[in-house]
Amino acid sequence: MASDPFFAFVEARRTIYALSDSSPIPDARIIEIVQKAVRHVPSSYNVQSARAVVILKEEHKKVWDFADAAIKATMPEAVYTMLAPRFAAFRGAYGSVLFFEDSTDLENLKLQHASAAPLIDEFSDVSSGMHQFTVWTALKAEGLGASLQHFQFSPVFTEKVQEEWKLPKTWKLKAQLVIGTPTGELSEKTFKPIEDRVKAFGQ
Ligand SMILES: Cc1cc2nc3c(=O)[nH]c(=O)nc-3n(C[C@H](O)[C@H](O)[C@H](O)COP(=O)(O)O)c2cc1C
Repeated sequence: MASDPFFAFVEARRTIYALSDSSPIPDARIIEIVQKAVRHVPSSYNVQSARAVVILKEEHKKVWDFADAAIKATMPEAVYTMLAPRFAAFRGAYGSVLFFEDSTDLENLKLQHASAAPLIDEFSDVSSGMHQFTVWTALKAEGLGASLQHFQFSPVFTEKVQEEWKLPKTWKLKAQLVIGTPTGELSEKTFKPIEDRVKAFGQ
């Protein structure tokens, strides 16, 4: 089928936590992939509210130092004890791609399309997820492994990220994709019966 090459990439994308601090491709290529995704992935009413920040090498370590410090300061000790080794592993990877949505674009869109206003935040999350998936899948095609993280529930973490890289306060953090060269085995993935999940009529 014409879509086979596309689905080969879709199937190959997996969550990989064991990542080294190296990259099989140049930094410029990583940035180009993120730019392509942000340019071409759709958004509701073509609002183009997606923003992304690529943070590599030494700078990337700061992302996970901030997450570690934020969770240590604000969450119960048991939660921090569970998460601390993960922060250390993320810190040891090559980079992070941070995904944001610009609230200024979205608030303007709500004013322009009042009838759709109650749906705009959901559309924004859907579109951000499409961006995340596209970058994750494209980087996998280039030999990079990744895992998708969500520590934006901690305001201290997001504030530190905003401050450190002087990002507009209107950029709302949605996800953190940790990237690097895969060093471990893939975990086994099981699937629910597809007949229970996809129905078709009128064929
Ligand atoms: C919307 C979404 C949120 C996720 N959040 C996290 C997360 O916060 N931390 C994490 O380690 N994995 C997260 N994942 C990864 C999923 O656990 C993973 O994709 C799923 O188990 C299927 O495994 P695979 O990615 O290897 O196909 C998330 C995935 C999606 C699609």
